[in-house]
Amino acid sequence: MAERGPHRKALIGHRGAPAYAPEHTLYSYDLALQQGADAVEQDLHVTKDGVLVCLHDLTLERTTDVRNVFPTRGRDVLLEGRLARHWFVHDFTADEIQQLDAGSWFGPRFAGCRIPTFQEVVECVGERAALCVELKDPEIHEAMGVDLLSLFATALRRSGLDRPRSGVLPLTVQSFHEPTMRRAAAMFEQPLHLVLLIEPADAHRWSDRDDFEAVAEFATGIGPGKAMIEGRPDLVRWAHEAGLRVTPWTFRASEPGRFASVRAEMAYYLSALDVDAVITDNPDQFPRELSQHS
Ligand code: G3P
Ligand code: CA
Repeated sequence: MAERGPHRKALIGHRGAPAYAPEHTLYSYDLALQQGADAVEQDLHVTKDGVLVCLHDLTLERTTDVRNVFPTRGRDVLLEGRLARHWFVHDFTADEIQQLDAGSWFGPRFAGCRIPTFQEVVECVGERAALCVELKDPEIHEAMGVDLLSLFATALRRSGLDRPRSGVLPLTVQSFHEPTMRRAAAMFEQPLHLVLLIEPADAHRWSDRDDFEAVAEFATGIGPGKAMIEGRPDLVRWAHEAGLRVTPWTFRASEPGRFASVRAEMAYYLSALDVDAVITDNPDQFPRELSQHS
C-alpha cells in the first residue's frame, strides 16, 4: 500500500461494504478493501464473557438467526419506546455468538457468515488498511459494569495496533460519548485518530469556532452526520482551523438525497465542503479523482 500523506482524502467503508454484503462480516470488510477503502469501520460490543465483537446493534435479531438458534433466550424489554422481545449481545458468550448465521438475512449466498470478534478483524485486515473503530454505547456498558474502553485498549496493546504502522492510516477511535473520548485521549498516545461523533440533531450546539477549539483539546477530528454540514462550509472551516479532520457519515447509494448519485454526493462533500474523508456503504462509488487535496 502506498504511503498515505496527511492530506490524502480517505475512503472509509461503513461496516465494510454493506450495500453489497452483510454488514460487519469478514466478507464485507474484505469487499470494502477490494473496492479501495483506506479503512473499514467496526462497531464494538462486548459478549457475556468479555469478548469484543463487531456488530452495530445492541441486539442480535436484526442480522442473525438468533430467534431460531436460541428461541428461549430473548427478553421482553422496553427499547427506544417500544416493548418487544430482544436477544442482547451481552446475554450471550462468544462461543454462542459464533453459532449464529449473520449472513442469510442479507441473501442466501451469504449463509454461514458469522459475527467476527475484534481480534479476527484485526487479523483479517492486517496491514492492508486501517481500522476505524466505534465504541458503541459505552454508557450502557458502564451501567452493566463493563468498561468498553479499557477492554478495547487491552485488545489494542495485545495486537500492537496502538503503535504506528508504516503505509497505513493510523487507527481511528470514534464515539458519540464525549466522556469516553476524553478518557481515550488520556489513555492513548498519537498517532491514533480520536473522532467525536456528532448527531445532526445536535447541530445547534455547534455555532462558532470556539466549539471546535474545545473539541481539539481531546480529539483529532469530528464525525458529523452529513446533514449537519450540508451547505455549512463555515463549520468545516472552523473545524479545520482548530486542527480537526472532518469525516461525515453515512453516504449510501440508496439515499443520495438531492444528488443524482452517491458518487456526486460524496464529490460535493469532498470538493465543495472540503471534508477530509467520507464513510460510505458504497466504497466502489468513491470519487477517487478527488481524493488528493489541491
Ligand atoms: O461513523 C459513524 C457512524 O458509523 C455512526 O452511525 O449508527 O452507523 O454507527 P452508525
Ligand atoms: Ca458506526
